[in-house]
Amino acid sequence: MKEFNPAQAIFAIKNTEHDRGVNISISDSATFYFPTAQEMEDTFHGKVEAYLYSRHLNSTNVALGKALAAMENAEAAIVTGSGMAAITTALLHFCNTGDHIVASNTVYGGTFAFMKNWLKKINIEVTFVNIDNPDEVKAAIKPNTKVVYTEAMANPLLTIADLPALAEIAHANNAKLLVDNTFTPMIFSPKNLGADVVIYSLTKFVNGKNDMVGGAIIGTEEEIMGMLDLNDGTAMLLGPVMDSLRSSMILKNLYTLHIRMQKHSENAMYLAKKFKTAGVNICYPGLETDRNHELMTKLMNPKYGYGGMLALDFGTYEKGAEFLRILQEKGVGFLAVSLGYFKTLFSNSGHSTSSEMPEDIQKEIGLKEGLTRFSVGLDDDIEATWKLIEETLKEISVI
Ligand SMILES: Cc1ncc(COP(=O)(O)O)c(C=O)c1O
Repeated sequence: MKEFNPAQAIFAIKNTEHDRGVNISISDSATFYFPTAQEMEDTFHGKVEAYLYSRHLNSTNVALGKALAAMENAEAAIVTGSGMAAITTALLHFCNTGDHIVASNTVYGGTFAFMKNWLKKINIEVTFVNIDNPDEVKAAIKPNTKVVYTEAMANPLLTIADLPALAEIAHANNAKLLVDNTFTPMIFSPKNLGADVVIYSLTKFVNGKNDMVGGAIIGTEEEIMGMLDLNDGTAMLLGPVMDSLRSSMILKNLYTLHIRMQKHSENAMYLAKKFKTAGVNICYPGLETDRNHELMTKLMNPKYGYGGMLALDFGTYEKGAEFLRILQEKGVGFLAVSLGYFKTLFSNSGHSTSSEMPEDIQKEIGLKEGLTRFSVGLDDDIEATWKLIEETLKEISVI
């Protein structure tokens, strides 16, 4: 089979704007009129397809959804006001009270907190597992398991999920495989690897500008339209809809995602090699010595590299914190959470994005005190950036 090209799939979409604008128009209406009362009624009964209300669908959100579905080789998508809105909507759609989820124990802190603390309010049980151990995943499955949930590249240790193996386990037990691909858009095409539903925080690499939050759920037409059902659709009734102005902005940024991912990956690989040679403890799946290298190489779309994320261990929290403070002072990037920005962002995972995870679980998954997450930016002169980093490593006596 010809290798799937997610960027080309987006470019292949035909723009059919009535005013011949090269960009999609921004839908500026919360509601839409009908020529006749009969047509209104028919639309509400699903007999006619028309826009009826913007929490349901509007042309701009549909355009972004179409582009994201094309990127994932999928049928349809909903865009939401945040990544967490996408995650919570998808989980609440596929699970009912009394159901069970098997989830990776290395997921984004907000996802972890929702699963561990919130879902029990409605009696949905979650078993957290080491997602890279298929036997553990299999053993955790129960007759009422509806969802197996993982990140393709997991927060914050950059663990790679064996998606085909997980899909096999999920499908053998009539469960859906939901994959958060936020760290690795275009690098992985989870649907092609067996996932049922792909979830994004668009806030990160996909938008890439750190000027908004957004999310997406990508799946089959049936799944997505089910979420939008007027009577019992989780997205329709919980109302996590994205604002159409934001959709239009993200859609424009989507058309440069392939170039940005390549540059993020190129810069991250350069820095990873330098950190490694300098003797800093580093996780980066692009390094041949990394525990995830082989699996990632097997599953990825090679054109986009190994991604822009690095995890570095400085031993103690204080050492890592000092390193980041000086790097920010030197202008290397920002001491800030989030990722996928054009400038480098860095943070201590255990004290920020994974702080929702109790300390004992942080220990169990190997999240160490001094673990520092880097989202490497689009620096044009990465050698100059490394010089500043090397200088800082010397200043704090790491090298
Ligand atoms: C992997 C991952 N998924 C989901 C989210 C949540 O997305 P948002 O902040 O857009 O709600 C984040 C946020 O940091 C994340 O890192």
